[in-house]
Amino acid sequence: MTRPLSLGQEIEISIDRLAYHSGHGVGRYQGMVVFVPFTAPGDHILARVVELHSSYAVADLLKIEVESPARRTAPCSVAGTCGGCKWQHVTYQEQVKQKQEQLVSALHRLNKSHSLPILPMIPAPAEFHYRNRIQIHRHGEKLGFYASGSHRLVEINECLLAEQEINSALETVRTRHLKPHAPDKERVEIARLQNGELDIRPASQQDGGDGRFAQVNEAQNSVLISVLVKAIKAIPFASAVDLYCGSGNLTFPLAEKLPSTPLLGVEASPYLVDLAKRRQGSQSLFQNIEWAAQTCATFLRSWKRPPGPLLVVLDPPRPGCDRETRQAIGKLRPQQIIYISCNPTTLARDLEPWLNSDAYEVEFIQGLDMFPQTAHLEAIASLQLKNSL
Ligand SMILES: C[S@@+](CC[C@H](N)C(=O)[O-])C[C@H]1O[C@@H](n2cnc3c(N)ncnc32)[C@H](O)[C@@H]1O
Repeated sequence: MTRPLSLGQEIEISIDRLAYHSGHGVGRYQGMVVFVPFTAPGDHILARVVELHSSYAVADLLKIEVESPARRTAPCSVAGTCGGCKWQHVTYQEQVKQKQEQLVSALHRLNKSHSLPILPMIPAPAEFHYRNRIQIHRHGEKLGFYASGSHRLVEINECLLAEQEINSALETVRTRHLKPHAPDKERVEIARLQNGELDIRPASQQDGGDGRFAQVNEAQNSVLISVLVKAIKAIPFASAVDLYCGSGNLTFPLAEKLPSTPLLGVEASPYLVDLAKRRQGSQSLFQNIEWAAQTCATFLRSWKRPPGPLLVVLDPPRPGCDRETRQAIGKLRPQQIIYISCNPTTLARDLEPWLNSDAYEVEFIQGLDMFPQTAHLEAIASLQLKNSL
């Protein structure tokens, strides 16, 4: 079959939606999918084909013929060049709408067979200045981010995603070149710590350690935690497991909600488990938590589940659960499973066998926007064992 496009060809197309993950605008030319970075749904554009694949093409925006109502002037002068924000040229309302459509689309097949209650996306409390830490490059006295896929420094005076307090520390970072033996180039992390102090150090010396927030968007992380805690059923759980628990971001709120339930946090990184233990020790609260510094699959292979109702919370990284973990969770038949996901595609894949076994029903699936101006998307799904009450 001949392709309708050739490299370098100029085409006029309409943009229908924004793609998950890449964030590019998506349109079609004679049936072929074309991705065009930095476009908005509703734009009619002139673009030039720069990549040609068997089932899709990528094109560069040349001219906006008809501007979408969802388009706005990006508030930041380096949006589109600094390698960070992908969606500043799209109104925030439209960003949230697109994320909802991406979630629904990723769950489409599962939704057809199980008619899922997908709730409306929760927008972030603030679309700008939400990050409590950033990493920035210093070249001599110049500060900036690297342009996408390169080591070319795009200079900045502030970052619209960073908290204002972090921006106010940029000058301090700039003056590091005056220090004796200062390297000519370095990557520096600026972080607001939980005690309110600012921590500035070379990113190579940053160890994700004590005092940092587990999540960069603290305000939306609190919303996520409140959705999680509210979702827990009033079942007398005999045990609860927080899989992929990191340094306990979700484990501690779970322990507070279920003070008399033995709770296990499972995390592959011994370093993060150690941080969690230190936090537990320093607060002398949460004595109902124990930790396992193991992969979830290894842990579940030998875990002796206490008799009685079980709650499983899991928050895996983008690739989702591995097959062994997914199957082990299904075999345990927890009364409730709460799945927090940063990738709707693997969320759909992982939920499928539990739902197809006909043992579980979905109480809700709720998207949350944790990272405005970017194509990242978080979701939380609550499943209950049928006839478990
Ligand atoms: C999305 S993070 C979630 C962390 C935590 N729940 C939070 O809210 O901050 C995923 C975590 O899973 C851990 N991880 C990755 N693969 C793992 C595995 N196979 N078993 C256990 N933990 C794993 C990572 O180290 C990371 O801390």
